[in-house]
Amino acid sequence: MMEVCHERAEFSAACERARGEGGRVGLVPTMGALHAGHLSLARAARRDGADFVALTIFVNPLQFAPGEDLDRYPRTLEADLDACRELGVDLVFAPARDAMYPAGFQTEVRVTGITRQLEGEHRPGHFDGVTTVVAKLFANTGRCHAYFGRKDFQQWRIVERMARDLDLPVDVVGMPIVREADGLALSSRNRYLSSDERERALGIARGLRSAHDAWQAGTRHADALSKLVRQEVEPAFDRIDYVALASPDTLERVDGEVNEGVLLIAAHVGKTRLIDNLWLGVDTRP
Ligand code: PAF
Repeated sequence: MMEVCHERAEFSAACERARGEGGRVGLVPTMGALHAGHLSLARAARRDGADFVALTIFVNPLQFAPGEDLDRYPRTLEADLDACRELGVDLVFAPARDAMYPAGFQTEVRVTGITRQLEGEHRPGHFDGVTTVVAKLFANTGRCHAYFGRKDFQQWRIVERMARDLDLPVDVVGMPIVREADGLALSSRNRYLSSDERERALGIARGLRSAHDAWQAGTRHADALSKLVRQEVEPAFDRIDYVALASPDTLERVDGEVNEGVLLIAAHVGKTRLIDNLWLGVDTRP
């Protein structure tokens, strides 16, 4: 039977117990409003050999800047719990804000370097909020494999860096983006899109698809690949934050002829900001 807990001590004890019985713990950190992408992470944990799959649901206020969508971020706990039960998740940890950040909390975990560009540039402080909460989740889980979606490519690399730099006993695993049949990357924020905006949002998948095809056909120039994405996104979106070809390891932008890279995009349609990416030569056609 699936357990649900709201207190850190209970969560830690359950993970400890699972390890004590010889089990391997798979952790899936989320902010809820679960979709097939999140569920694919829980499935991957099980497939990789986790005996105990723990999924956390916490809309982390530290990673939202004033004016962002913290208040309207979808909260669908009952449906999330049903989906987890159906999938055979062992434990859901859904703490309240005070359970994660009790009175007097004043610590920040910050990764430098890899956090500065792209999302870091457009959402200052965002990654500090992410690494602070993920460090706490890792500390409370203990030794585990932790699963992150590659839609948040930079986040995945940052969390991996943090675990390595702080010698945390966590293997960070990045899993492929899950898309709708028409190419739209799954995101809890897709719920904000009107049907017209959803149609326009497909510009990203079209752009990434043409970059994918060009890469397969031998195009290696960073500008040419980015331009293919821009061509589809510019007419459909209200504003582009960035379209960049970056190193998959450092997330630094790369120029000229390249032999590896990840194409990353962030753009606004109506009031919704969407991000997506394509790891060239690795990801399947969007
Ligand atoms: O990707 C997310 O849903 C969040 O950034 C995470 C990793 C759960 C931290 O709040």
